[in-house]
Amino acid sequence: MGQTKLLRIEDFKNPNFKELVENKNKLVHTFGALAELGHEVASRSNFQETIRTSLHLVLGSLGIMRGGVARYSRFEHELNMLAVRGLGDFFPLSLELCYEDERQFLTNGLHPIEISQASVLPFFQVYDRTFENTKLELFVPLVISDEAVGALFLGEKASGEPYTNYDREVICAMGRHIGSAIAQRNLLSEIERRSDENRKLYDDLKMTYADTVKAFAAAIDCKDKYTEGHSVRVGKYSEIIGNELGWDADKIEGAAVAGYLHDVGKLTVERKIINAPYRINAKESAELNKHPAVGFEILSPIHHPYTDVPLAAKYHHERLDGHGYPDGLYDRQIPYIAKVVNLADSFDAMTTDRPYRRRRPAADVFDDLQRNAGKQFAPEIVAAFFRGILKELNGEVKDKKFRKLLGREYMEADGLAVSLRTSLNSMTPTSSLTRIKAA
Ligand SMILES: [Fe+2]
Ligand SMILES: [Fe+2]
Repeated sequence: MGQTKLLRIEDFKNPNFKELVENKNKLVHTFGALAELGHEVASRSNFQETIRTSLHLVLGSLGIMRGGVARYSRFEHELNMLAVRGLGDFFPLSLELCYEDERQFLTNGLHPIEISQASVLPFFQVYDRTFENTKLELFVPLVISDEAVGALFLGEKASGEPYTNYDREVICAMGRHIGSAIAQRNLLSEIERRSDENRKLYDDLKMTYADTVKAFAAAIDCKDKYTEGHSVRVGKYSEIIGNELGWDADKIEGAAVAGYLHDVGKLTVERKIINAPYRINAKESAELNKHPAVGFEILSPIHHPYTDVPLAAKYHHERLDGHGYPDGLYDRQIPYIAKVVNLADSFDAMTTDRPYRRRRPAADVFDDLQRNAGKQFAPEIVAAFFRGILKELNGEVKDKKFRKLLGREYMEADGLAVSLRTSLNSMTPTSSLTRIKAA
């Protein structure tokens, strides 16, 4: 059985015992500082603040008079000061390194270098006077995972004593913490840079896609001289409907694209059929009716970033009651985007002049849409479209899209707003999407 040794008065007078207690206190103090530094680095607060606090902790825990922390820039080959204390106003903000310096620092790792003993390196020759004037004694390359990320500059100790091996070990441990904070920040900056680059690339691609779509729409509309601008208008009406249905920005953009491209199949239909100044016969009609399938063939190989544009082209002439073409699909079999484009397409056909007839009056067109809700058109889409028009008539939107597309006179027909509101309130919703606004 071991016996507990009791301390005697003489023990306290023993110089070794005093040293032991002092060392223990120093150790506790250093551990405290290290823990605080670790916490500071892990807290990911403001980076500059973290570095400033870290420098104060290093200087404070070892009683060092002055010092600084620098971040290494790989591309500029320089050390940029992040935090300084007691180095005076003339200490440079950036210090250049040559290849040999970088190589030596990497080999050296995190160990403190005695500045007075390192004059063999170009870095210490170039900044010899600066370091001497600021009384710097130690230089610590911050090397993390074989990569130089920065450096610590340390001046003399307040006690005037030289740095001990113990001090150097503590500096090493603290340097590792600070280096990790810088490495973490570098990684974050790199991620941010890449993400910005990706976003820019994505925006460029989106713009190219949008330009291509518009060029295609213009090509389609060019072929049909009587319905000039039809594709663009159908795109805009589809966009308005998507907006009224509460879709997100990408989906609304997709609806616009589907509208722009819905008649792309007409590019292969003979010009004389498209431009016929009379009602075309059955044979010509059969030829023209191939355009949805051809459009689908053209658009399918392209990757469209948003909605199913090829399906909108294929089914934009289908009707809810199954009397449409090419496949005679019923209500739920028809892709939703095709239903949206169908309404936009029909609305434009009714509200523009054709070679064999004038456009129909607005009230007549809205009456037609309402009567055909549930037969040709999805009722909630008609309701969404009516809401979009009503908002404009009531002055709730700045951009007067309908007025621009149809003309001021056409949109200001007597009693249009009242009849639209009445229609909206009398319509039966078929899905939860319909929200009829009370008059
Ligand atoms: Fe069409
Ligand atoms: Fe069309």
